[in-house]
Amino acid sequence: MIDVSTLDLPEFDPTDVTLHGERFHEVMAELAATSWIARAPLGYLTLDRAAGEFFLRSKSATFPGQLIAELSGVTDGPLREEIDHNILHLDGERHRRLRNLLNPFFTPRASDRWRPVMRELIENIYAGIAGAGRCDFVAAVAKPYPSQTIAAVMGAPLDDAPRLHEWSHWMQSQFDGVALLEHRGRIEEAVHDFYEWCDALIARRRSDPADDLISVLIAAEADGDRLDDGELRNLVLDVLAGGVDTTHAQLAHAARLFAGHPEQWALLAERPELAPRAVEEVLRHEPVTPITARVLTADVTYRDCSFPAGTLILVGSFTGNRDGAGDPAFDITTDRGNARLMTFGAGLHFCVGANLARAELEEALTFLAPRMPGLRLDGEPSFGTIAGIYGLDALPIAWDA
Ligand code: HEM
Repeated sequence: MIDVSTLDLPEFDPTDVTLHGERFHEVMAELAATSWIARAPLGYLTLDRAAGEFFLRSKSATFPGQLIAELSGVTDGPLREEIDHNILHLDGERHRRLRNLLNPFFTPRASDRWRPVMRELIENIYAGIAGAGRCDFVAAVAKPYPSQTIAAVMGAPLDDAPRLHEWSHWMQSQFDGVALLEHRGRIEEAVHDFYEWCDALIARRRSDPADDLISVLIAAEADGDRLDDGELRNLVLDVLAGGVDTTHAQLAHAARLFAGHPEQWALLAERPELAPRAVEEVLRHEPVTPITARVLTADVTYRDCSFPAGTLILVGSFTGNRDGAGDPAFDITTDRGNARLMTFGAGLHFCVGANLARAELEEALTFLAPRMPGLRLDGEPSFGTIAGIYGLDALPIAWDA
């Protein structure tokens, strides 16, 4: 057995701000061609699917949320309390109980129930830009659509969607050490304001229940016990933090990819039944979660290498998604066989909102493809960073209106 620290490995720095767009793809492809694992500043990065899934599924690994908080100096106070209770940071029985409460709301069938709402939302959003023939897709479509969807799913007024977007963005930043260090005050404020807003919504739903997430969670019971108000608002926060920035970023990348592949966009417009495949291809080709992380809670041996407890493992889904998936080119007609997607993670923390996200993306792309013929870039996309959620800050596009 070999101590992993003694291996001669290629280096990878996830905080390198030049890693985006084509350069990111090239660097990752080069790394994956050299090794199954790279050295990162605080740990290691897995590069193939099997290694990534091994660490994501390992019982001797946990999401390093508390570690990120410690390193960023968030050791006490309400934000630390929220971080300590976040579903992504819980394991074992506490995690199982919360997932059992959430899962029924997010099955494929339950998620499909929201498709008519999604269709109406994307239709209204498109109505605002239809005649223009050009827009910044991020500001005009990718940003409002997921927060409006999540407002509907939560049973909140549509007018609250911009606030939900803002809060979700800051709360999602708690998983990103650099953002936590730089914007702690702003994240803390978002958690505080969201809790206040959510408490009022919970009170309204207690007296006037409907079929939204909050009403369902109020009524739900797992193993004979119910959530108290503190647990409930925290769980709603988890859904908001996980469900807005992610879908927003993925939809923006989808539009960018199709703008660069007009023949695929025309094909989707012609054959809307390709939408599920188009969404899988977007999620595979440009995962907005290119890196997930784990910290080892015990010594682990894998592929004859020993990893001591406390080792930080970054799981690369970009290269993992391509492993065994055939031609890496973006193509919504290619059969990827059994090459599982890593964009939503793997194991017990596999994204609870994956079905909802897929439905959202399918509805948006199916609606827009026939209405935006000739989709093309109308300037350079402005890329975000790959640490945290890999999004776009702006995407100027044009089409034949
Ligand atoms: C394209 C969109 C999305 C992507 C790429 C994505 C990605 C992920 C990933 C990679 C994880 C697992 C993290 C880990 O194991 O380290 C995760 C977990 C999670 N996601 Fe998503 N997600 C998306 C949309 C959503 C939506 C729409 C919701 C809710 C409506 C959501 C809620 C959550 C929650 C609550 C967790 C934590 C699950 C747990 O700890 O058991 N996500 N997501």
